[in-house]
Amino acid sequence: MFPPPRDRPQHVRLAIVMVGLPARGKTHIARRLSRYFSWLGYRTRVFNVGNYRRAHLGSQKDHRFFDPSNQEAAAARAMVARMALDDMIAWFGEGGEVGIYDATNSTRQRRAEVAARCQEAGLQVVFVESICEDEEVIESNIRQTKLHMPDYAGMDPDAAVADFQQRIANYAKVYEPVEPSEGSYIKVIDVGRKVEAHRIQGYLPSRLVYFLINLHPLPRPVYLARHGESTFNIEGRLGGDPPLSPRGEAFAARLAGYVAKEIGEGDLVIFTSTLRRSIETARVLVRPFVEWRALDEIDAGDCDGMTYEEIKRRLPAEYEARKQDKFEYRYPRGESYRDVIKRLEPVIVEIERERTPVLVIAHQAVLRALYAYLMDHPPYECPFIDIPLHTVIKLTPSTYACKEERVYLGPDPSPPITSSKNSPST
Ligand code: F6P
Repeated sequence: MFPPPRDRPQHVRLAIVMVGLPARGKTHIARRLSRYFSWLGYRTRVFNVGNYRRAHLGSQKDHRFFDPSNQEAAAARAMVARMALDDMIAWFGEGGEVGIYDATNSTRQRRAEVAARCQEAGLQVVFVESICEDEEVIESNIRQTKLHMPDYAGMDPDAAVADFQQRIANYAKVYEPVEPSEGSYIKVIDVGRKVEAHRIQGYLPSRLVYFLINLHPLPRPVYLARHGESTFNIEGRLGGDPPLSPRGEAFAARLAGYVAKEIGEGDLVIFTSTLRRSIETARVLVRPFVEWRALDEIDAGDCDGMTYEEIKRRLPAEYEARKQDKFEYRYPRGESYRDVIKRLEPVIVEIERERTPVLVIAHQAVLRALYAYLMDHPPYECPFIDIPLHTVIKLTPSTYACKEERVYLGPDPSPPITSSKNSPST
């Protein structure tokens, strides 16, 4: 399992309890929160009661099954909700840190029971309630996500939407919004137009508010590209602040052509690092861009400017240590991958906040970390992710997955060999 960061606040155990009628984007929020907290290094898991229901009671249930006056069904639904909660509490007992209980939790009584069980287990509880009355948003959510669930497999889409609307109406009969007397909560109203926080204290709940304030469900692509080849890349040297090579400049020109084709006259937010090679690449696009120090390449400290061969020869113990644990290894007077992830958090939140496409022109280690976040890979995998030079990675997020396209823009038949091929443990 992913080892906890050495510098984290002690004994973090947070239960996030989702609340809201069906089709209010709870699962979207739960998954995004899970990805964010996992990426920050917390053992995180979503417990989705809908999945328990499908697994234990069968998936093809029509709206009558969700009618609160259907006592038999209500008892069965309460049973699967308890199973998911039991599993979450057992998982916390095994070292879980951020558990997300994804269910409607639509009555005060149900929430009081969930909160009591969590508190008995020593967990901090925050309700995250998603409220939305915009019929268009609700219907689009039903069509985009619910119709693809096994519940409606093989059914006429309009009949499925009508059934789901009746399911919502059944939940609405008993739904009670969260009240201040129930404890800590965050209400996300109209897909983030307004966010209300009540009695939020401590480090993790504060991160939760920070993240939710910036989250929105609009899908738009994020493009990741390394700067064009630099003179250090040719020599296999780490870090430094070298200029682009002629091949790197040629890539920048092709990137400009790609952007013009993809975006046209549309808006594009461009982030670069503060290093020469990424700024030189971005300049050719002739669009405004924002420089972030947080996007600078991993700091190789005393090894900056060396090749991997030189490190092996001159600092063999350092070379070995990195080979043993490339994620945790920190260069002398430099950084580790874990350090890089930590400093990238504001960039991640900024990317979440943007509603237009975003292009990040940066460096190998930094883009590995961003890619791991966007593709929901565990952070310890990031040192090994393939991010070649002269290749644009287009990631288009949705609720349940992120579509990836890689476009090679180099002059050669395949991406140039990058220095990381010689890097320990890649
Ligand atoms: O070689 C290019 C580079 O961006 C270096 O500046 C950096 O140290 C390295 O890649 C990161 O890759 P790895 O973690 O595989 O050494």
